[in-house]
Amino acid sequence: MAATTEQQITDSINSLRRERKAVILAHNYQNGEVQDIADFTGDSLELSRKAAATDADVIVFCGVHFMAETAKILSPQKTVLLPDPHAGCPMANMVDLARLREFKAQHPGLPVVAYVNTTAEVKAESDICCTSANAVKVVEAIDADEIICLPDKSLAGYIASQTKKRIVPYPGYCPTHHRILSQDVMRAKKEHPTAKVLAHPECTSDVVELADVVASTSGMIRWVAGSAGQEFILCTERGIIHKMQKDNPGKKFYNPCGLNICPNMKKITLEKVLWSLEDMVHEVTVPDDIISRAQRAIEGMLAIV
Ligand code: 13P
Ligand code: SF4
Repeated sequence: MAATTEQQITDSINSLRRERKAVILAHNYQNGEVQDIADFTGDSLELSRKAAATDADVIVFCGVHFMAETAKILSPQKTVLLPDPHAGCPMANMVDLARLREFKAQHPGLPVVAYVNTTAEVKAESDICCTSANAVKVVEAIDADEIICLPDKSLAGYIASQTKKRIVPYPGYCPTHHRILSQDVMRAKKEHPTAKVLAHPECTSDVVELADVVASTSGMIRWVAGSAGQEFILCTERGIIHKMQKDNPGKKFYNPCGLNICPNMKKITLEKVLWSLEDMVHEVTVPDDIISRAQRAIEGMLAIV
């Protein structure tokens, strides 16, 4: 995009943002220029908190569908817009209501912790939500020794490694994080021997085992800022490097491979943010009965951490 065009789009977004009383929230994986025009960037937990607390009339959610749905559940009176209606999360789509009910029937009586990467319908049918930032704390707070964690088998495996409780995983996974292989990480470590390795818990267990730090996206951003280290290998979606590089201009950041891209996160562009505010599209709605039940699961999580 030519610099002048980008500036014009940014100016138009800024005037519409004021006119509509809108707040722009962007996930840490968003394209750099989208992160730069956002009012707030963050991980799933931080963005949920912002969505619950904002006094704006409109929330433009630069992320994927389940994140915009979570914002709507927490702020049902607000208009929530997703600039590209096709920005979904394949992992969230790996479990629907029918499959959840079948899985619960196979493990009767067990409480269900739903990762926030799930549809509103699945949240409504679960006991409590969690994000990668608080999953272990949520599981520890539940009064049960055996717990279903869905849909991410990798996050479930990571939780199981951090608790004495028995975790029953559902067989979902994030295609983007599973494209990062342990061989990639070992090669990157050889090339950059002093670099610290950070991994998201959605990575496979052999990648997580190679990591110095396992954290949510914002957890990684904070850790890098506080580290005396100068080089870092990021085992997560590559959009995270944008903020790290801006906040720490002297430090060096490496992707472990060329495949750590979430195509859905990348569907949101500056133009689409502008069109979204111009035409007030694409509105994300959730039926009232699902909102109230899903709210209970998300607010239960927010009360713990
Ligand atoms: P965070 O909550 O850590 O930002 O992760 C969200 C996500 O979709 C990771 O793939
Ligand atoms: Fe979903 Fe994975 Fe993309 Fe996160 S990175 S939004 S879990 S597909």
